[in-house]
Formats: sequence, C-alpha cells, structure tokens
Amino acid sequence: MIEPILKLENISKSFKSAGHTQTVLENVALQIREGEIVGIRGKSGSGKSTLLNILSATLMADSGKMIFKGQDLHTVTNKERARYRSSCVGYIPQNLYLLDDRNVFNNIALPLQYMKLDKKHIEKRIHSLSSELGIFALLKKEIHMLSGGEKQRVAICRAIIKKSKLLFADEPTGSLDDENEALVLALFRRMQNQGTTLVVATHDDVVVNMCDTTHKLQMR
Ligand SMILES: Nc1ncnc2c1ncn2[C@@H]1O[C@H](COP(=O)(O)OP(=O)(O)OP(=O)(O)O)[C@@H](O)[C@H]1O
Ligand SMILES: [Mg+2]
Repeated sequence: MIEPILKLENISKSFKSAGHTQTVLENVALQIREGEIVGIRGKSGSGKSTLLNILSATLMADSGKMIFKGQDLHTVTNKERARYRSSCVGYIPQNLYLLDDRNVFNNIALPLQYMKLDKKHIEKRIHSLSSELGIFALLKKEIHMLSGGEKQRVAICRAIIKKSKLLFADEPTGSLDDENEALVLALFRRMQNQGTTLVVATHDDVVVNMCDTTHKLQMR
C-alpha cells in the first residue's frame, strides 16, 4: 500500500479559557494520501478549523503525531516547522488573514516574495491566476474595499499561487456565488491533477461530492 503523505495519530487538542478546559479534538487519526482531495466535515464547533490549523503547522496539538515524509512535525525544530509551512503548504484560513496595509497585488505576492522569485515572474503569475479567478481588476484595490466573496478569492489566489504540495482550505466556498464556486473548484481539480493534495473543511455538498474521502469530526 502507498504510504500516506500526511498521517495523524492520536491527535488531541484542548483550549483553556476562563478556568475551563474544553477538549476539541480527541485521539483523531487521519491518513491523507498523496493526490487526494480529503473533506473534513462536522458541526460548527466540532474542530474543523482547529484541525486545519494543526495540519498547516500554525497550531500545535497537545499530544499525538503528525507525520510528514517520515518525520513527526511535532518533534522537529521551529525552523523546520516554518520550512514545512513556507515550502510545502498553501492555506486558506476561514478568517482569510489578508493584510489590510497592503493592496490585493501585494497580498498575493507575499508568498512569492518569500520564495525570492524575481519581480517579472511574480507579476506574470499573479496576472494569470488573478484573471482566472476574476480578480484581475481588483489588484490595485485596498483589502477593506472588497466584498466578502472578492476577499475569499484573493485569499484563495494567495494560497494557491505558490503551487504547494499540500493545500488546506477552510470553508473556501462559503462566500462565493455558484459561478465563482465552480471556478474555484475547477482550479482545485486542476491542482489535484498536477499532484497537489487537498484537505478541505466544508459544509457544502458540492464540495463534499468532489472529495475522494471525507472525515467527520464529532462534537466533544
Ligand atoms: N484559540 C482558541 N481558544 C479557545 N477556544 C478555541 C480556540 N480556537 C477554537 N476554540 C474553540 O474550539 C471549538 C472548535 O472550534 P473550531 O473553530 O475548530 O470549529 P469549527 O468546526 O471550525 O466550526 P465552524 O464550522 O463554525 O467554523 C469551538 O468551541 C471554539 O470556541
Ligand atoms: Mg471553522
């Protein structure tokens, strides 16, 4: 059997607030095979975003293993985790995290600047992908001027522009109309065909239907 690209074993996560401890994930096991689209389902509050934060190494689990290329990412150095995030992961977080002090172009350019690509190459890639996502005309706009669906497409563009091995998407179609949803899902499918592995948290049946497997989180 092919080894999964990413494997979670016994992942648990609790949050402490106001003297109370809330367990959100308890002994979650998940195998993500290379090139698959994996759907994460579950009620609001069941821990979908928490799980994607852990998968993208923006949050540490309290216990358990997350094995990528034979290494447990919970035991490697912070520098190695940062390298995983910047070179292997694209992430569309639920709250988007766009930078208000940069315009649309400069938000999308950020990951490519980290990769030290030259200016001409960055411009070419951004023009091409933003056209596909119907946000080319917005490139010079400030983030606060955008509608919810426009912001969502900017966040999608920023996450997929670097063509990462793994893409984590948290409710990526929540603010999109049918036409833009179809556009984004076609892009996801193309990325899959080019070898990207996708994990998508979603309530949307259209998205669930395009997944190769789904994993349902239980409320704790
Ligand atoms: N940083 C945090 N501190 C305290 N509690 C948190 C934190 N992050 C998440 N939680 C709690 O953990 C639970 C799971 O949150 P999470 O955002 O993962 O759920 P979700 O499944 O993504 O929900 P939704 O479908 O509404 O997006 C919620 O009860 C939330 O309040
Ligand atoms: Mg969520």
